[in-house]
Amino acid sequence: MNHINKKNVIITGVAGMIGSNLANRLITNNYNVYGIDYLEFNSQNLLKKIAKHNFSYFNLDLSLEKNVNIFYNKIKKIHFESYWHLAANSDIQKGSENSNIELRNTFLSSYYSVKICEKLNIQKFCFFSSSAIYGETRNKIKETHGPILPISNYGAMKVASEAFLSSARFQIKDILIFRLPNVIGPDVTHGFFYDIPNKIRRNDIVQILGNGLQKKPFMHVDHLLKIILKIYKIKYLKNINIFNVGPGDSGITVKKIINLFISLKKIKNTKFLFQHKKNGWQGDVAKYKFNNSKILKLCKFNIPSSEESVVKTIKEIKL
Ligand SMILES: NC(=O)c1ccc[n+]([C@@H]2O[C@H](COP(=O)([O-])OP(=O)(O)OC[C@H]3O[C@@H](n4cnc5c(N)ncnc54)[C@H](O)[C@@H]3O)[C@@H](O)[C@H]2O)c1
Repeated sequence: MNHINKKNVIITGVAGMIGSNLANRLITNNYNVYGIDYLEFNSQNLLKKIAKHNFSYFNLDLSLEKNVNIFYNKIKKIHFESYWHLAANSDIQKGSENSNIELRNTFLSSYYSVKICEKLNIQKFCFFSSSAIYGETRNKIKETHGPILPISNYGAMKVASEAFLSSARFQIKDILIFRLPNVIGPDVTHGFFYDIPNKIRRNDIVQILGNGLQKKPFMHVDHLLKIILKIYKIKYLKNINIFNVGPGDSGITVKKIINLFISLKKIKNTKFLFQHKKNGWQGDVAKYKFNNSKILKLCKFNIPSSEESVVKTIKEIKL
């Protein structure tokens, strides 16, 4: 790879749904991408979708200290423009049952990512955080909302990662934190948009977790990355900048999404069963909405609604 005449970036969680799409976008924008993952879930398939040119892959578990040096020794001669940290456990339900998974994959991967940046003197860090940090809230959530009281181990380890990053501000000059809503697209690796099509394909009875009235904002991965890459290019006065990246609507209910599946995919025989509880699982935030005025001011383009993102995704999913 020609790492002298091109700009170089590192992406962790590169084989994930968002990471693989981000890698392809950056490669198209003339970057060399150095990707780290350890291929949990269904990531092998997504890794294959990343353009081969200008891409190097490192199979490393970022929750292990020894891998900081192993990675450093392989790439220490290269100058990097930025570090994009996306590796995390994203099966929130599993992480609620076993907090150790969140400690390793969501927090320690962030901790050792900061260590990698310090060793390589990387001055720009982009962190993919989550709405889950806010816990249960009433009003539209602003980035300044507090106190921050997450209700899941996943949310807690994202808060811890943000806090650790904040303390790294003396080593890393430019820190961007993106707090995401539910991000979807045809390549999802887990969760509702992964399970439902699989069950429909198998003609199974579809058991919905919760009563179907959970109402959350959604954003298609294409829209998300368009906004994030715009935010990335702006010069900021502050050392740490935090953004809620999502639509400003009050979301879309699970029942509405299922009705969209049924009508757009002309589903006839599948049966959907709901539970009698408002949260799908322990740690599930049943309702929340973002105040996205900060990104609206910066991006100056129309941000698609949750329903538009859901419709686009359902149309793209092959049954
Ligand atoms: N998809 C969403 O709805 C959503 C919402 C909010 C925040 N986020 C955040 O965005 C990021 C990307 O999400 P995604 O949907 O692409 O998730 P994903 O599960 O598809 O990808 C995450 C990737 O990280 C890798 N990974 C996990 N632990 C690792 C470790 N210890 N070492 C190396 N690799 C490791 C996994 O193998 C996986 O390929 C994550 O940090 C996630 O928490 C996603």
